[in-house]
Amino acid sequence: MDYLKAQSVNALHGTINISGAKNASLPLIAMTILAKNSVHLSNLPHVADIRTLLKLLTNLGAEVDFLEDYVCVDTTTLHETKATYDIVKTMRASILVLGPILARFGHCEVSLPGGCAIGQRPIDLHLKALEQMGAEIEIKAGYIEARAPKGLQGCNIIFDKITVTGTANIVMAAALAHGETTITNAAREPEVVQLCEVLHESGIEIEGIGTAVLVIKGSAGKLIDIVDFSIIPDRIEAGTYLCAGAITKSEITLTNVEPKHLDAVLAKLEEMGSSFTINETSITIHPSDTIKPVKIITQEYPAFPTDMQAQFLALATQADGVSIIEERLFENRFMHVSELQRMGADIVLNGHTATVNGKTDLSGTDVMATDLRASSALVLAALVAEGETNIHRIYHLDRGYDALEKKLEGVGAKIERLKE
Ligand code: EPZ
Repeated sequence: MDYLKAQSVNALHGTINISGAKNASLPLIAMTILAKNSVHLSNLPHVADIRTLLKLLTNLGAEVDFLEDYVCVDTTTLHETKATYDIVKTMRASILVLGPILARFGHCEVSLPGGCAIGQRPIDLHLKALEQMGAEIEIKAGYIEARAPKGLQGCNIIFDKITVTGTANIVMAAALAHGETTITNAAREPEVVQLCEVLHESGIEIEGIGTAVLVIKGSAGKLIDIVDFSIIPDRIEAGTYLCAGAITKSEITLTNVEPKHLDAVLAKLEEMGSSFTINETSITIHPSDTIKPVKIITQEYPAFPTDMQAQFLALATQADGVSIIEERLFENRFMHVSELQRMGADIVLNGHTATVNGKTDLSGTDVMATDLRASSALVLAALVAEGETNIHRIYHLDRGYDALEKKLEGVGAKIERLKE
């Protein structure tokens, strides 16, 4: 297994190019199941989760070609409708194939994704909405068995909670349904917006894109001629590197980024003392000499994203004062805290709230990544910890960050990937 060896740096300097968004790529790859043509996806990030989902599609019979600057996915040859446990267990977002396969074939079996490090992550809302659309759903031997022999029917769906992949699943199911589907309390994340925009540009009538109420007019089972598209920039990757600039007090520029997707993150970094030069597709961070403490509550977009909580918690260890970070979306998303404490951080956990007493000097040591965003928090801490830090189990990191150590090396970080 690989691990990262990192040392503290004085300051970083230069430019980091942001990759395509993992969480936009996953639903858009699943959406190719609805296509009657082969689909060209450009700007896909080179991360494990994307490879996993593309492998799942090939297991179902699709053709996937990696070309110079785009990936071509042809699902016209799709003949399997069972997403097996071996793949789904490695990447819970495989649940995103449930809606499209059911809508296209009228039946499917998808392994239950099971729990995950950061929480239970049930999919009850996905299943309830599909049943409302006329699907018969049974859970048998760890699999979701879904049938809709006459196709799915449009209807009014009100999500009890805002769910990102739940919204994406139902948008895709509704795209092929008979009649009109209204989704109320829909997720508004940019990744869901891009899915709706691509379907809309491909001929599916969708109203309310970007709002909490989506109205989708289904194609009544007709497959869709999907337009070529480029994946939006990864706002969480971008936010992570902005935190790298803030924690090392370095001025770095991010390119190929969508600043408007980062409003809540930029606002919190400003509260902590940073300022920014923002152009259409780039952001330069101008850090302050001292980092101010902050209060953060994670909520759905456009509020502060849970996927940036771990990174800001690491940053808060360097703030002069007491920061309060409340995690409202997932029940177990503080596993990075114990590793940061081992590096010397002074953090008190009380249920869903972490109180971070800064500024503490961190010491490098061996630490273990536990989940994707926790991994990046440990990298940030390592950039300012005294001595060397070895970050183990970075297969978590590789799920969602494209060449992170190379991008940081490119702006002067002392970080390398080694074999255990
Ligand atoms: C998506 O996960 C993201 N993953 C997550 O990013 C992100 O943290 C999360 O949204 C919240 O923004 C992808 O897009 C692939 P949810 P998702 O359904 O869709 C509860 C990362 O680091 N819920 O919006 O699985 C759930 O338990 C990953 O890139 C139900 O109760 O999250 C949670 O408390 C981690 N029943 C809340 O809703 C359901 O049926 C939000 O979950 C579905 C969700």
